[in-house]
Amino acid sequence: MTGEYFIELLQRLRAHLGQERRYAHSVRVARCAELLAQRHAVDTSKARLAGLLHDLARLYSSAELIAQCEARGMPIAAYEREHPTLLHARLGAVIAGESFGVQDPEVLSAIRKHTTAAAEMSPLDECVYLADSLEPGRTFAERDALWTLALRDLEAAMREVLLLTFAHLARKGQRAAPPSLAAARRFGLTGPQVTEEVRASAS
Ligand SMILES: [Fe+2]
Ligand SMILES: [Fe+2]
Repeated sequence: MTGEYFIELLQRLRAHLGQERRYAHSVRVARCAELLAQRHAVDTSKARLAGLLHDLARLYSSAELIAQCEARGMPIAAYEREHPTLLHARLGAVIAGESFGVQDPEVLSAIRKHTTAAAEMSPLDECVYLADSLEPGRTFAERDALWTLALRDLEAAMREVLLLTFAHLARKGQRAAPPSLAAARRFGLTGPQVTEEVRASAS
């Protein structure tokens, strides 16, 4: 990525998002994804690009998310109709292709999986997912420790962040999305821990 292209990309991202808070979050996620990528021998420019563009559709309303997905013939699962915000990840990947010319399937995969995680995750997907969860704008108590863990061990950090996510959903009385449950299994959270979290989140 040349410097000139990068500056233009930032300007276009800022205009597309239309909100300084979301733009600043995106820049922090890009920086964190890049740092994690560097530590774990992952392509840093792909991590940075996916981080920058991960939330392109995050500020769309529920109605707009559904309308834009339907307009493109994208299938929408029942759990996504129930929680349309989840669609911002998959729609964001499509917009990254359409409006920002991103063709790289690895970058698009990282954008697609950044919210729910998934059964299949590459180290790049993990860097972006963890960067989004653990960027310094996040204020939950465990952030610092989990960030340090992510720098050392991506998989261990994935397990801990997924567990926190399940606990958070349970507190809100919400069920985890099927891809998150698949991710929990993928990261070895098959024990009573997760069964309990899932049961709690379903109640
Ligand atoms: Fe997001
Ligand atoms: Fe985000």
